[in-house]
Amino acid sequence: ADTLGAQAAKSGRYFGAAVAAGRLGDGTYSTILDREFNAVTPENEMKWDATERTRGSFTFTAADQIVGHAVAHKQRVRGHTLVWHSQLPGWVGSITDATTLRTVMRDHITAEATHFKGKIYAWDVVNEAFADGGSGARRASVFQNVLGDGYIEDAFRTARAADPAAKLCYNDYNIENWSDAKTQAVYRMVRDFKSRGVPIDCVGFQSHFGTSGPPSSFRNTLANFAALGVDVQITELDIAQAPATAYADTVKACQSVARCTGITVWGIRDSDSWRSGENPLLFDSAGNKKAAYGAVLSALGGT
Ligand code: G3I
Repeated sequence: ADTLGAQAAKSGRYFGAAVAAGRLGDGTYSTILDREFNAVTPENEMKWDATERTRGSFTFTAADQIVGHAVAHKQRVRGHTLVWHSQLPGWVGSITDATTLRTVMRDHITAEATHFKGKIYAWDVVNEAFADGGSGARRASVFQNVLGDGYIEDAFRTARAADPAAKLCYNDYNIENWSDAKTQAVYRMVRDFKSRGVPIDCVGFQSHFGTSGPPSSFRNTLANFAALGVDVQITELDIAQAPATAYADTVKACQSVARCTGITVWGIRDSDSWRSGENPLLFDSAGNKKAAYGAVLSALGGT
């Protein structure tokens, strides 16, 4: 096959892109999106600040646009994200009472997952809950600080009840290198969840890499998580300067792990990227394929 999505599909995988609703009307953008990708992740439109700016008042217009587009083009949707410390409205961040916050969190998850029920392949239920550095600790956030460690499993149970068919993922960055304390901490959490029957189906490795690409242990990391009985996915891939080899290495790591079900790049053209100064994507700002594109296609087994 000669597109990323079609080639990934040959091994039962998807190849997706983060999408911004505001760009769907750009013909260059949507042409590439619908030609190359068979999965999408709304880049910002499903986040709490976009969907529940005031308590109990939900806005899904922009996210619905993306989901509608995806359904029309038979693209899977990764829902991103239900519980995250960032892009969180101030009214949530200022709650100090645990009973109130627990209700607010559950209501948010239930409302959003119910709204999109039946249309979501996988939800990033909780995003970036662990701290950077060598501590292996949970990241401080209103959820962690007010509710304690249990908020993560509570979020997963709530999401399962709202949309039992969606795969439920934990998603984070800097968990690609096996020996890192953060990787180990997330691994222990997933192992614990699996052993106690907390409903978790997948782990998302964001994979925002520097020019050298993935750590050499990346394949091993994916395989070790998969061995816990979860799918693994590369969820927000971008690589500074988009070196072809680094992209190929990343794709090969996923292709070599049976339960690595797909890859999402975090944007389409360099000009669409949150790190646009680093030209980290597969298409240049004019929409032309870069060298990394060819490397990815051939790593997927295509020509
Ligand atoms: O919504 C406002 C809009 O009202 C305003 O007019 C505009 C002016 O700049 O800003 C808009 O908000 C921006 C938002 O993107 C939507 O475009 C924010 O300023 C900007 O900070 C925000 O950046 C996003 C970032 O998450 C926020 O944390 C990026 O687009 C998005 O790519 C990035 O994605 C995250 C993942 O969700 C989680 N993992 C890391 C990844 C990269 O940071």
